[in-house]
Amino acid sequence: MLAMISTWRMSWEGLRQGMALLREGCGAGDAVTRAIQCVEDDPAYTSVGYGGLPDRSGRVTMDAAYMDGETLRLGAVMAVESVRNPILLARALCGRETNCVLAGRGAEQFAIARGLPLRDMLTERARRRWLEALDTEKTAAPYAGHDTVCVIGLDGAGRMVVGTSTSGLFMKEPGRVGDSPVSGSGFYCDARYGAAAATGLGEDVMRGCLSYEVVSRMRHGATAQQACEEALRDFVGHKREMGEEDGSISLIALSPTGQPGAATTLPVFPFAWGHGDSCALYAARRTPEGIRVAETTGEEMAGEP
Ligand code: GLY
Repeated sequence: MLAMISTWRMSWEGLRQGMALLREGCGAGDAVTRAIQCVEDDPAYTSVGYGGLPDRSGRVTMDAAYMDGETLRLGAVMAVESVRNPILLARALCGRETNCVLAGRGAEQFAIARGLPLRDMLTERARRRWLEALDTEKTAAPYAGHDTVCVIGLDGAGRMVVGTSTSGLFMKEPGRVGDSPVSGSGFYCDARYGAAAATGLGEDVMRGCLSYEVVSRMRHGATAQQACEEALRDFVGHKREMGEEDGSISLIALSPTGQPGAATTLPVFPFAWGHGDSCALYAARRTPEGIRVAETTGEEMAGEP
């Protein structure tokens, strides 16, 4: 079964392109990379790649990761600037015995050595938002709930790959790194059991190692959907016991047979799932009864990120 799952409405076009590649016989790595590049290259999206909003100093710094579920090898980059497609850089690092996670200047030098395209990632629109924020807030903006693109792919040979890419929180402190490049937190993939990825406030996701939690539950027999719901319920339950708010966290997962899972603490969390010949947008929702997943259409999702 060919399948992909991805976070937010912004991943829709990329997921469709990735699914087309899978149908042509391409591997999961190519499909996931294509899907994420589509989002990174689109300046309309303010939390990923070109067009991403900057840190307090006005610099766009990005985190990304790529993990191969066959080998458990991964590559990740943290706080990298001026690299047009951080996902390509993360993928290029995947498979190295050592030095597979690079940060900052070292990551950029590796990108240059590999001939990956560079670009000034700060758009005029993002620069204006930063200047306005400097005028009005002086401190980090509260989390606005729209961030990482996460994509999981399963190809015809049963290979699974997960990728993530984000410019992180608007007005973050220079040097801040979120969950997206952190194995087990923002992503995890073991083709024997499934893969998972997280979007939301990285500081919270890292406290719960939520992607590993989801895959671990799948390993012990949960479906992808059960694993997402249980992992999120447990973590949020513990936060409540500590007197904390639920926060903004959403999870996706894919089983080795291509079955999807999603859960969220938000009123609505759009995600896309493609399998076989079909692709559709869905929404996980937090309701008084718990977490629900409903198929939806592009029109219904207008206005959602
Ligand atoms: N989840 C992305 C971040 O916190 O940076």
